Amino acid sequence: MSTIILGIESSCDDTSAAIIKDGILLSNVIASQSVHEEYGGVVPELASRAHQQNIVPVVDTAIKRAGIEKSDLSAIAFTRGPGLLGSLLVGTSFAKGLSLGLRIPIVDVNHLHGHVLSHFIRREPNDIVPEYPFICLLISGGNSQIILVKNYNDMEVLGQTIDDAAGEAFDKCAKVMGLPYPGGPHIDRLAAEGDATRFKFSKPHIPELNYSFSGLKTSFLYTLRDAKKLDPDFIEKNKADLAASLQRTIIEILLDKLKKAVDLTGVKTVAIGGGVSANSGVRQAIADYCASRGLKAFIPERAFTTDNAAMVAIAGYYKYLAGDFCHYDAVPYARITI
Ligand code: KG4
Repeated sequence: MSTIILGIESSCDDTSAAIIKDGILLSNVIASQSVHEEYGGVVPELASRAHQQNIVPVVDTAIKRAGIEKSDLSAIAFTRGPGLLGSLLVGTSFAKGLSLGLRIPIVDVNHLHGHVLSHFIRREPNDIVPEYPFICLLISGGNSQIILVKNYNDMEVLGQTIDDAAGEAFDKCAKVMGLPYPGGPHIDRLAAEGDATRFKFSKPHIPELNYSFSGLKTSFLYTLRDAKKLDPDFIEKNKADLAASLQRTIIEILLDKLKKAVDLTGVKTVAIGGGVSANSGVRQAIADYCASRGLKAFIPERAFTTDNAAMVAIAGYYKYLAGDFCHYDAVPYARITI
């Protein structure tokens, strides 16, 4: 008999539902929330209200697009954390209610595990997935972690940021440049036309495999502030070079520790995940590094870099196969690491 999992993601500002059948993705529906745009960041209360409006149509569409019936589902996987508590509560409560109605189990998923396991989402039975162990560079708006992935439920954080995440560095520097939120994609677009060697920003000296991005942000801020005193149009005239130089620096910081982690562990496979793994420069740099070292690179489809329920469904699929279900008294958690 087939195993069909409904995945539900509601940890931040995307309401998403996906169906995975025997490891193959049948549908992945995402409703992004535009209500936050005018505030320059996610407003938690507005996010939970939007999730409440979206969850029923999103789940319904995912089931219809998959060409299945509710009664075909084997289990429901939902993101339990980390994330915004009000938002997580919507997905968690919905999963519990539907599972009671259908008399099928629920499986709780750590959102970060989902990002890592997104590389196991297959569209076709012959799609290639990573072999354990591998290293995953998880880079998003809230995390910058180097993770040694030994199994679907056995992951070790080898290093992580001690202050800002890589995505925050993109977003905060973009804000200083007057770009809309989130700034990462705008920097990416501008960087394609700029000279990446034009400006030099400070790089951190942090021990072991940890990251720091707050010094880069400060260095960027001071460069712009000093230059604007001499020429008020400095940012406008140099925005492509600024974006390209900033992106290069972030990539160098990321790759420096990643290379050390690969050398230390001797793994043969490197994967990336999280919102920042959508960045063209990061993707190219990882591909180049892996090619030069004879490593296998797993670079996710852009649709699976940001928050999505397909990754929740695949993480839930492996837990379901292991009989690792969740109780109805499970409550969401705002913070948790791998
Ligand atoms: O994983 P994600 O969707 O959620 C959070 O952890 O919040 O990551 C969002 C982050 C934001 O900081 C955004 O600017 C960044 O991912 N991002 C990018 C790109 N696309 C999204 N950063 C650089 N280049 C991109 N193309």
